[in-house]
Amino acid sequence: MSIKVIFDTDPGIDDAFALFYALSHPEVEVIGITTVFGNVPIDISTNNAYILIEKSESNIQVFKGASKPLLRPNGNFPYFIHGDDGLGNINHARPENIKDNIEASDFIIDRAYRYPREINIIAVGPLTNIANVINKDPKIVEIIKSITIMGGSWFAGGNISPVAEANIYNDPEAAEIVFKSKIPITMIGLDVTHKVFLTASHIKYLASLKNNSGKFLQDISSFYVKFYKETKNMNGCYFHDATAAIAFTNPEFFIFKKGKVFVSQDRLTRGQTVIFESEKFHETPIDDERKNINIAKKVQSKKVINKFLEIAEKYMK
Ligand code: BDR
Ligand code: CA
Repeated sequence: MSIKVIFDTDPGIDDAFALFYALSHPEVEVIGITTVFGNVPIDISTNNAYILIEKSESNIQVFKGASKPLLRPNGNFPYFIHGDDGLGNINHARPENIKDNIEASDFIIDRAYRYPREINIIAVGPLTNIANVINKDPKIVEIIKSITIMGGSWFAGGNISPVAEANIYNDPEAAEIVFKSKIPITMIGLDVTHKVFLTASHIKYLASLKNNSGKFLQDISSFYVKFYKETKNMNGCYFHDATAAIAFTNPEFFIFKKGKVFVSQDRLTRGQTVIFESEKFHETPIDDERKNINIAKKVQSKKVINKFLEIAEKYMK
């Protein structure tokens, strides 16, 4: 049986790995890709989504979404991590199949009503499109089956600031709307994604596969890997977004705790995810109706990487 997924993304190199995984997984049916600003401006991230469907030989529609955070102007885009084109400076020609589809949040709303309690969202960029869905139609939270979010951090500190993870930092007001909603949420934050490394030898293995995807993933990742080498002396890269996609298909690779997630909108701590674990006694309990969500605390990293390599070998085109 296939599970319906809308893939919300800001491609982005690690987004590409995650999207290729979801598109080729035999039990996942991606019914649409929605794009958001984040790693690059919205026009580039949308172009990139079209490049990725072409390269993965998929026949999925792309829906362009938010160009900026809900309430703030855009910040600086991290071209030094993902390249000027968001795909490691491969400078791919502008795809020809770009369509004028409906706006991303309208697409999500439409499909949620068409398939009530069947739609799962994997969100690996800023949460602006999802917040727009909730703002436009607050009742929708009852019929969206789940959201798996790559974002936030519990005990791992931040990556874009000392305390904040980039996707949440990029639109903290949107993230707060989503975490406050009644949608069943799984948060895959830096506590686990900083434990999953894709090494140079994994990338070499991908490139050796008898498909075009592996070679393409190698091509786009060399810029990303160089960034990790130069800034962190790592021989490979964090596998943020793919870890979230794999948490969706294989939650048994993770240990989750339940908690309420709050997002700081303050200047210094902007985007920090503050978590009240349900099992813990807090001297200052938080008086708030929001639901406890699943927060990934531990991960079996090897299993995550092996699952990706297995899907790449068996199913990627
Ligand atoms: C997240 O931020 C983006 O740069 C990555 O694509 C990932 O979604 C990691 O913090
Ligand atoms: Ca991303």
